[in-house]
Formats: sequence, structure tokens, C-alpha cells
Amino acid sequence: MKEICIITGGSSGIGLSIAKLFENNNYLVFNLDLTPSTIGTFRRCDVTDLAQIKRIIDAIAEQHSIDVLVCNAGIHFSANIENTTEEDLDNVFSVNVKGAFAAIKAVLPNMKHHQKGAIILISSDQALIAKTNSFAYNLSKTALASIAKTTALDYALYNIRANAVCPGTIETPLYHQAINNYCQKFGADKEQIHQQEENLQPLKRLGRPEEVAELVLFLASSKATFITGSLQVIDGGYTAQ
Ligand code: NAI
Repeated sequence: MKEICIITGGSSGIGLSIAKLFENNNYLVFNLDLTPSTIGTFRRCDVTDLAQIKRIIDAIAEQHSIDVLVCNAGIHFSANIENTTEEDLDNVFSVNVKGAFAAIKAVLPNMKHHQKGAIILISSDQALIAKTNSFAYNLSKTALASIAKTTALDYALYNIRANAVCPGTIETPLYHQAINNYCQKFGADKEQIHQQEENLQPLKRLGRPEEVAELVLFLASSKATFITGSLQVIDGGYTAQ
């Protein structure tokens, strides 16, 4: 029988690689995203709409026992504290943090009932370190690491594990959007900025979404049954510097 994985933001980048890898490893994947995808079973969902997430997950839970939840949907926002409005902060938090909050709340009754579950939050290397012009994004990713720890403690007795994955710079549409925005703002050359990004990494290259997906699959699997409440860094050595 197939195991069940729910992922948010599974239509692009890291989420798409996770959805593909889980599907290839005998999971039935439900992808909650704004944009349709042919990978997994698509459920149109805006993760800022907490009632909608609950409705969609409740409907899945009526039919299946949910083995894995991956909270991956996220947006990037680049600004220091002075250049961040309250609306910007709310927007970043609504997608990056409240979406995960609602999805976890919705899967827990099902996972508790089955006494089994793995929750994986896609945080960032910014849960460990700061970067310039990253006030709201950094705050949101630090919050996800905190959710992994508190959820791990509160639900360990139900055999539910929660972990945060902390990727460094991974080449995805979100990454390209972020450097496009930077280049537009500062009149910089995209190829040059991309090269600079690569040179900042000890391995002298960016990460690939497939590499992050392998870590997520491992954390979800029966090979990782003693790993909970952890922050798993996957950053090509960036935060070791
Ligand atoms: P991406 O932009 O390629 O994919 C994000 C996905 O989330 C898209 O499919 C998008 O439609 C979906 N999404 C966005 N807002 C949504 C909403 N309101 N409701 C439902 N779905 C929504 O981004 P990428 O790079 O794959 O990022 C995935 C996660 O990984 C994000 O949480 C990001 O913060 C995190 N991350 C990315 C890094 C990178 O360098 N690319 C580094 C560290 C963390």
C-alpha cells in the first residue's frame, strides 16, 4: 500500500523535486499549491487561507492515514527592518509561517489517531545565521525551526516526529526571482551576481532541489525514526564558514 504525503508548494523548485521523489518512492502525494502541476494529486490551495487548508486536509484525512506532511510553500522578501512595512511582514508570515501552522494543526488529529507521522518544515540556513536585507524572511524561517522543535516535543508520545530542513542557496525559480529583483534594484549584472553567489559557497556551486528532496525523503522514512526536533542543514558548507 502506498504511504500518503501532503506537501504545500509542490509545483515548483524544491517542492516539485520533493513531490517527484516521493512519488517515485511509492508515496501518494497530495500537492497543495496555487499553481497546478502534473506531479502528485493537485489541490488548489492558498496557504494564507487557513480555513481552506483545513478543509482540504480534512477531506484527505477522511480517506487516508497521513504519513508525511512537508510544509514547503514559501515566498522570499528582501529588505531591512526600516524598509519592511507591517503589510510586508504580515504577508511573509501569512505564507511562510501561518500556512505551516494551519497545515500542521490539520494533520495532527489524523497522525495522533494512527500513532505515526513525520512533519518536515522547509526552513532555511537563515534559521541559523543572518543575511543582510532579510529581516522578515529570516524571522519567518527562524519561526519554522521553532515550530519543528515545539511540535517534536508536544507530539513525541504519539510517535510523531517534526524536523526542520535548512537549505542554503538552492537554484530554483525563487532564487532566480530574488537575484532578478536585486539586479533591477541595483542595476547589477545577473550573470555576475550568480557567479558571486556560487563563489560564496565552499563547494563553489549552488545546491540542487533534488539534493534537498533526498534529505526530506530520508527524514520521512523509517531510517530516521530517532530524528526529531532537529534542524538539518543542507548548505554546501555555507554556515560552517
Ligand atoms: P519556488 O518559488 O520555486 O516554489 C515555491 C512554491 O510555493 C511555488 O510552487 C508556489 O506556487 C508555492 N506558493 C507560494 N505561495 C503560495 C501560497 N500562498 N499558497 C500555496 N502555494 C504557494 O521556491 P523554492 O526555492 O522551491 O522554495 C521552496 C521553499 O524552500 C520555500 O519555503 C523557501 O523559503 C525555501 N528555501 C529556498 C531556498 C532557495 O535558495 N531556493 C533556500 C532555503 C529555503
